[in-house]
Amino acid sequence: MVSNLNNLLCSDLPTKPQPELGKILVTGANGYIGGRLVPELIERGYQLRILVRKESPELKARWPDVEISVGDALNTADLLKALKGIHTAYYLIHSLLLGKNKFEKVDIKAATNFRIAAEKQNITRIIYLGGLGNTNKGLSSHLENRIKVAQELSNGTIPVTVLRAAMIIGSGSASFEILKNLVENTPIFILPKWARTQSQPISIRGVIQYLVGTMEIDETTGKEFDIGGNEIITYQKMLRVMSDLLGKKRYYFRGLVNSTSIYGFIASLLTHVPSPLTRALLVSCKNEVLCQNGDIKKYLNIKLLSFKEALIRALTNEGKDTKSTGYQNTFPQTHKIAI
Ligand SMILES: NC(=O)c1ccc[n+]([C@@H]2O[C@H](COP(=O)([O-])OP(=O)(O)OC[C@H]3O[C@@H](n4cnc5c(N)ncnc54)[C@H](OP(=O)(O)O)[C@@H]3O)[C@@H](O)[C@H]2O)c1
Repeated sequence: MVSNLNNLLCSDLPTKPQPELGKILVTGANGYIGGRLVPELIERGYQLRILVRKESPELKARWPDVEISVGDALNTADLLKALKGIHTAYYLIHSLLLGKNKFEKVDIKAATNFRIAAEKQNITRIIYLGGLGNTNKGLSSHLENRIKVAQELSNGTIPVTVLRAAMIIGSGSASFEILKNLVENTPIFILPKWARTQSQPISIRGVIQYLVGTMEIDETTGKEFDIGGNEIITYQKMLRVMSDLLGKKRYYFRGLVNSTSIYGFIASLLTHVPSPLTRALLVSCKNEVLCQNGDIKKYLNIKLLSFKEALIRALTNEGKDTKSTGYQNTFPQTHKIAI
């Protein structure tokens, strides 16, 4: 059990826990978002089951009261077992690690299986965290895929709440780790045009509060929401904020090459985040990812962090998060600022 309330991301969430809803399923519990959602739900008194592809003694030790269902979303029988007796299921699965040309089909297949199994088990609702992006604007295959997964899950009779986010800032999040590694390992940046593309990153705290809060507000059932931080910022500016925080003087020049694939390849050599993930995320930087509507605010009024505040939090929490993410942390002790 988690005992330090101050470390909880939902400690100031305005909604009331509703453990009486019944059993909640968290998929992708070994992943970044799932790994942070589970302890919050435990602390709020929910009965949990997690779906993981591999069981490990570490998982049991970390969450002794959580039921573990071992299975693959590509296997319908596994999903039927995992979804049996479930009230709400969080869908936090993606297959980007499979790389270009492979992940799209696999992700759609997994979502189709999940929708069908959820219907068969007649669960009450699904909550899916996907990606922002406007389909009319030539989206990257990753962002397009996130939208198609939302559509696929919503094709059935079980209502799906879709939360759409851009980059998520927290230690262990692939996009945060890439940004940090780039600044650490690159003294000179030759910036493409798309470095001026705007994005609306959100802190992991905000994402987890929205994920938990929407479950605790019945009226959000079956609705789609854009979630973002309170600041719109370019990738170029993100590099500058990160280098200031890390105390690293970096030099920026305009480049003539704009290919996101070339930049993706170079970035994959400079970060410890797996290459297929780095490349897919870099290619998505050409797309503006901004919240199109603020509907979520009608239901949940939470305090959002600025980009800089979210970075400071992430850098501050690195030591604590290393164990759960496996990512290497290199942030100097002197920068440990609590906010
Ligand atoms: N992180 C971000 O910055 C960000 C931003 C916007 C939206 N999102 C969305 O948030 C959701 C979760 O992302 P994340 O960052 O937590 O990703 P992640 O850390 O890569 O985790 C993905 C999870 O999916 C699981 N998975 C993949 N294929 C599976 C399958 N066939 N069956 C069962 N489980 C499977 C993985 O299990 P294994 O551990 O077995 O591999 C892993 O636990 C995704 O929908 C993503 O698009 C994330």
